Amino acid sequence: MSAVKHVLDIDTLDAATLRGILDDAHDLKARWKAGDRPKLCTDLVLATIFEKPSTRTRISYDLAMRQLGGETINLSPGDMQLGRGESIGDTAGVLSRYVDAIMIRTIDHQKMLDLAHYGTVPIINGLTDRTHPSQLMADVMTVEEHLGPIQGKSVAWAGDGNNMACSWIHAAVRFDFELKVACPPKYHPPRHVMEWAEEHQGKVKIVETVEQAVEAVDCVVTDTWKSMSDERAESEPIDMAALEPYRIDAEKMALANPDAIFMHCMPIYRGNEVSAQVADGPQSVVFDEAENRLHAQKAILKWCLT
Ligand code: CP
Ligand code: NVA
Repeated sequence: MSAVKHVLDIDTLDAATLRGILDDAHDLKARWKAGDRPKLCTDLVLATIFEKPSTRTRISYDLAMRQLGGETINLSPGDMQLGRGESIGDTAGVLSRYVDAIMIRTIDHQKMLDLAHYGTVPIINGLTDRTHPSQLMADVMTVEEHLGPIQGKSVAWAGDGNNMACSWIHAAVRFDFELKVACPPKYHPPRHVMEWAEEHQGKVKIVETVEQAVEAVDCVVTDTWKSMSDERAESEPIDMAALEPYRIDAEKMALANPDAIFMHCMPIYRGNEVSAQVADGPQSVVFDEAENRLHAQKAILKWCLT
């Protein structure tokens, strides 16, 4: 029997597999626009579990499955016995007998790993406290649409060293591009993620200032300063003053390459991590990113299920 094809993280998949999924995402989008709509998942069912709110992930996975001819069952822990203490192991075992794959958004990365351990169908990471690989596939796709192959390009990350930052670090290694990360010292990405990048000869470096990060890059990326699955935010208030210098504004964008793009996974908090002028300006590709979630998620489902 072949191994179950999970999409737990960018660092748990090899470069060739990720490149294949991305090529499929580009292809499925082009075919969709041309009216060629292959029903690759007819009669298959995806369960989606959301422990936290979602607009893009919820809609893109649901629509992706429908557009491929399959169906989705949307669940939240409160709807299931999971919310009353049924174990993740039993939940995984039961769902595996009903559905063909499970996508989970959880505040506890370990819960997703436990689902994969106990379940027998593909598990897809729809955001955890540590990473957001589904978003990253759409993000890399968006860079390539605007700037060509991502290999050899340069990207700046500014702000909080959060789950998105970690997935960008993973992506830099697997897709072979340069990533400069600028975060306040107290919000650096976890050390083990940087060590992983180093062990894998990633072109990832932490720089001191946001100006150093954005200088002459092809793409500038940021994200909210207050993630919904951020345990730190529960125990202590976010240090907005420390993050203030990391806001992407027109002055900082002007330091990037003239044709550089601005990216953000959304939701955007204008005036915090990015000025409205940049978020809504000509270099911003945030709605392309959101649209590409749909096609990237289709390519992930195709890989897992067919
Ligand atoms: N970018 C993203 O994952 O958006 P949602 O939280 O709306 O799913
Ligand atoms: N870092 C953000 C991403 C939202 C899509 C969060 O975890 O809330």
